[in-house]
Amino acid sequence: MSTVLRMTQVTKTYGGGDAAVHALDDVDFNIEAGEVVVVMGPSGAGKTTFLTIAGALLTPTSGTVEISGVNITALSEKELPDVRRERIGFVFQSFNLLEALSAIENVTLVMTEGSPKSRGAVNRASELMNMLGLGHRLKSLPRNLSGGEKQRVAIARALANNPDLILADEPTANLDSKRGREVMQLLRQIAFEMHKAVVIVSHDHRTREIASRIAWLEDGTFRPDVATDRDPVCQRVVEVQGSPAFSYESRSYYFCSTQCLELFKADPAQQLAGKRQ
Ligand SMILES: Nc1ncnc2c1ncn2[C@@H]1O[C@H](COP(=O)(O)OP(=O)(O)O)[C@@H](O)[C@H]1O
Ligand SMILES: [Mg+2]
Repeated sequence: MSTVLRMTQVTKTYGGGDAAVHALDDVDFNIEAGEVVVVMGPSGAGKTTFLTIAGALLTPTSGTVEISGVNITALSEKELPDVRRERIGFVFQSFNLLEALSAIENVTLVMTEGSPKSRGAVNRASELMNMLGLGHRLKSLPRNLSGGEKQRVAIARALANNPDLILADEPTANLDSKRGREVMQLLRQIAFEMHKAVVIVSHDHRTREIASRIAWLEDGTFRPDVATDRDPVCQRVVEVQGSPAFSYESRSYYFCSTQCLELFKADPAQQLAGKRQ
């Protein structure tokens, strides 16, 4: 396993004196390649601060941030743009596409290898967009795309330079439930099949279906006391405490609902057969 993002004792204080806001307080966080970590927590918990520090867009007050073994907190302001472009892909709630450019130009524009018009850049962008189901939309302007398509263009752009780390801030917040689910499945595929580390900040409980892990941020710290497990029926990540539970072959299983629990009880062996761990 390789650690893609490692944050150690990260603190962020906005302002000073009486007006100081401690947005992050001594935060440790790791994510490996191939994992999807969903960061949840109430408004004001520090989620956006956490993500912007992880993405080298904001400098922490103290602590270290390493991306693929490079300590980015030791780099100068001048060196950071290269790190952002080459090692990190961002996906935003509001897509942030350039309206005057076609879908494919939005992707090639950020490519660091060769010029955006070079055959290499165009080929790589087309390949990515085909993979994301956008093969028929390469030349479309953003205003002619649906929300789900726009977010898939944004995902292609995030992958353009083949970064190890993908950071997404509420990527499904502006999408209907079907498109939201498609985007989440894509993010999961990107982690599992392309072996990227994917961090998603989300209020959307449907992200539980694709999470390897959920991290709860509250008052600027991750809660270490919330144990989670995967519902063996629907594959959602659920909190151990307070969820319906059932023991089978000396292991406890936890469920998102009594419906999943009942399905499991009816035939545990079948429910466990062939399910990913
Ligand atoms: N630029 C800023 N200046 C001052 N305070 C800020 C700034 N950005 C965020 N905060 C404060 O830091 C805390 C965490 O904010 P944020 O990271 O946006 O949380 P979340 O994304 O979980 O809602 C909040 O109390 C917020 O008001
Ligand atoms: Mg936020």
